[in-house]
Amino acid sequence: MITKATIDRIMEATDIVEVIGEFVQLKKRGANYVGLSPFANERTPSFTVSPAKGIFKDFSSGKGGSAVTFLMELEKFTYPEALKWLAKKYGIEVEETVETIENKEEQDRRESLMIVTGFAAKFFHESLLQTEEGNNIGLSYFKERGFSNEIIQKFELGYSPDQWEAFSSRALKDGYQQQFLEESGLSVKRDNGTLYDRYRGRVMFPIHSFTGRVIAFGGRTLKNDKSVPKYVNSPESEIYHKSSVLYGLYFAKKAIRDEDNCFLVEGYADVLSVFQAGIENVVASSGTSLTVEQIKLIGRFTQNITILYDGDAAGVKASLRGLDMILEAGLNVKVVLFPDGHDPDSYVRKMGTAGFKKHIEENKKDFILYKTDILLKEAGKDPIKKAEVIREIVESVAKIPDSIKASVFIKECSYLLQIDERALLSELNKMRTAKAKKDSQQQQQQASRNAPLPAPSPEDLLFFDERDMPAVQQDFSQEREVIRLLLLYGNRVIDWDGLANTYIGPFMIAELSDVEFENSVCKSFVEIYRREVENGLLPDEQYFIHHPEKEIVDLTVDMLATKYTLSENWYEMHKILVNDEQVNMKATILGGIFHLKKHKVAKILETLRNELQKTPGEADQEILMSKYMHMKKVEKTISDFLGSVILK
Ligand code: UTP
Ligand code: MN
Repeated sequence: MITKATIDRIMEATDIVEVIGEFVQLKKRGANYVGLSPFANERTPSFTVSPAKGIFKDFSSGKGGSAVTFLMELEKFTYPEALKWLAKKYGIEVEETVETIENKEEQDRRESLMIVTGFAAKFFHESLLQTEEGNNIGLSYFKERGFSNEIIQKFELGYSPDQWEAFSSRALKDGYQQQFLEESGLSVKRDNGTLYDRYRGRVMFPIHSFTGRVIAFGGRTLKNDKSVPKYVNSPESEIYHKSSVLYGLYFAKKAIRDEDNCFLVEGYADVLSVFQAGIENVVASSGTSLTVEQIKLIGRFTQNITILYDGDAAGVKASLRGLDMILEAGLNVKVVLFPDGHDPDSYVRKMGTAGFKKHIEENKKDFILYKTDILLKEAGKDPIKKAEVIREIVESVAKIPDSIKASVFIKECSYLLQIDERALLSELNKMRTAKAKKDSQQQQQQASRNAPLPAPSPEDLLFFDERDMPAVQQDFSQEREVIRLLLLYGNRVIDWDGLANTYIGPFMIAELSDVEFENSVCKSFVEIYRREVENGLLPDEQYFIHHPEKEIVDLTVDMLATKYTLSENWYEMHKILVNDEQVNMKATILGGIFHLKKHKVAKILETLRNELQKTPGEADQEILMSKYMHMKKVEKTISDFLGSVILK
């Protein structure tokens, strides 16, 4: 864990306008800065940054928080990753506490592996650009393929010298440990214990992690010899899990989000050429067929995938299976094929950016329709094969979680297959029912494995009464108002009724000790506040803005940033609003507390009324009635009190 002291130093150094300014063009407006939301498509800027409070609020998507939250939302960083990013930016050394020994060891091992792969990337890149062999062989190859210096730099392409030990001996000499050289697959151990280089005389494509560190390599041979493998790739290791890495994602993620679409290609060369043509939202699954993890990774940035394949039939057929997985994940899949013999790399170089884009626009096809097309062509006139095609297509459609979308496809397929839509729909329903049954069986098995309690039987569910469910729409406005008051005024001293030297925060917490908060986030907010108070501390705005729990930050920013408080004339509006409630702090604070209490009492009264109507026994009626009368009195007291405090 990163130490508290480091976090504090990072928070102190962080200038939210500077950080967000790296990703969003911000313009100063009054006390704030505004820009176009990076999370939504908008024409008029609603994305607001308040340097005074150290928060941003995006009124289009509803997201808001600190600089850390921003990085977590935009770059999909984890909390520690976001902190480390800031630490790096501001040159702050990160201190971490050791959690457990194993944990630490594992982290050290991962870190050591990354340091070795990082060193190797630099070595290969330098040998490409700064050695004669690299220039003559590697660089001239890349140039021949049309890769620009810029792309070569950006993707850190390299060359591994055609010698047995050029890399290994250099790495050992520089103090890198044999163990990590072997585990990363960069070096191979001979029987006599010495090391030799795995990638000799190959051009090197480093594979970057999500956060931009080199974790593996693909090395392409320059020989036309069929007996040597075209690519040699890094083996699986603690830092490289092939199935959850996409080549190029680190460089593509911003464009994927901006374009709300991800182009998926097959090879390294395709990624580089398409990227170089200015189409930056492109990744490759590099050699393996697409996995669920890779799809989920893309799903973090967009729901739309466009697959760019070369037109050769074998590749197309092999891809059909992977695509069903994308449908299951709820993503939208389109497919574009290229004319004979072309892959995205050769096609974009032949046609240029505009021609390439035009081809995509004119030829992109929804996956289901594409699959129908291919299978139908294959089946020809054979009726048995055609029946099989229908079954397969409906099976794919059944995987789409959104039933409206599915029914649209059924309509189109009924046309393509020349089959009555109703027949297809009934087939679809059969499959869905079967799937639902299977899923629920699996879930039950899962549940019985996880918990000692048996899962509810179908009979239990039949007797389940909807009216037993809590109301869906709950009103938490009183709870939220109390949070707002704690945030704004908690660390001020009370100025009424001679309660001198008492702070408003601890006073409110004490007053609220008999109130059960229903909204879970409000509840934990108050819990956190109470804990701090018990430790003799007084948490302020900044404390909650930088809290590690996202829900707490969201609530805080919601309370601090309304469209009005952060609007153009924020200062004016704010002064008015704040002045208003500050004129009579007593009314404001007690009003907040007692409106909440009144609301709770009203709810109790409602429950009692319902029970009174249901309960037939006289004795029970009496007890309920006396409870009811008591609560009525409480309600009256609160009302009177509110009246006397507020209507002054
Ligand atoms: P391609 O053969 O299409 O490679 O394989 P390419 O990158 O387009 O290479 P060029 O254009 O001939 O230079 C597509 C991808 O499959 C993986 C690599 O990730 C490659 O980029 N692959 C291919 C391997 O991992 N090993 C191989 O032997 C071949
Ligand atoms: Mn290729």
